[in-house]
Amino acid sequence: MKIHHIGYAVRDIQKGIGLFEVLGFEKSGDTLKDLNRKVSLQLMKNNNLIVELVAPTGKESPLYSFIERGGSAPYHFCFETDDIEKEIVRLRKQKYTLIESIKPAKLFGLSKVAFLFNPHIGLIEIIEIR
Ligand code: NI
Repeated sequence: MKIHHIGYAVRDIQKGIGLFEVLGFEKSGDTLKDLNRKVSLQLMKNNNLIVELVAPTGKESPLYSFIERGGSAPYHFCFETDDIEKEIVRLRKQKYTLIESIKPAKLFGLSKVAFLFNPHIGLIEIIEIR
């Protein structure tokens, strides 16, 4: 599967943007807040590489403990698929557990995304691009 983007957890979205700009990335679109996941999101581009900065909006965010444990760090790889439901079935057979079912992602023009977890790989995201 082709990599769509890398999710990167940062403590603070504005500081994260500034520091990725130092590394040659540019902002792509506006900063969004996902009130369900309690995170701020900003897409950053460097040539063909897309990094999705994800920052917790407070201590109640599920991402907060991830950052407290390991600091700012890559958080997930997101892979493209043309059929997200079929892909979930295929990955479940490879011991991936669906931890966040299919939802439209505002950040990606309402493309469908889902999150899966495998104990040997960690968290991945898949996105349906048709
Ligand atoms: Ni993502």
